Amino acid sequence: MIGRINHIGVATPSIEKAVAVYRDMLGATKIGEKFAMPEQGVWVCFVDTPNSQIELIEPYGEKSPIHSFLAKNPQGGQHHICFEVPDIIAARDDMRAKGATVLGTGEPRIGAHGVPIIFVHPKDMGGVLVELMETPKGAH
Ligand code: CO
Repeated sequence: MIGRINHIGVATPSIEKAVAVYRDMLGATKIGEKFAMPEQGVWVCFVDTPNSQIELIEPYGEKSPIHSFLAKNPQGGQHHICFEVPDIIAARDDMRAKGATVLGTGEPRIGAHGVPIIFVHPKDMGGVLVELMETPKGAH
């Protein structure tokens, strides 16, 4: 049921500085506008690559869930991998049936792409925080 890698999440203390790395070091040219997702406590900016995206995330507000990550990784770093799935509820139920911990309430919320997402705890995923995202309608 695993689908394509939609994006790789990278936490950073400064989206502007992170954008400069992808632009100047790697030659990225398709760089979106930074936007806020206050309910998730993050600023987000997508850098497009030929086959995927890098999702740059910077803390928004005091209660941002990535403050603790940045405390451990002051320069920022790889934060999560997002795979597409055809049906987010089926994917959540499957994860739970296999004993995995779905973060938060477990109810999917709307992510930065406007489709429902969940996060699965890294302890169940070989140490990697995994985001599952319903494949956007009409994509691919
Ligand atoms: Co993400």
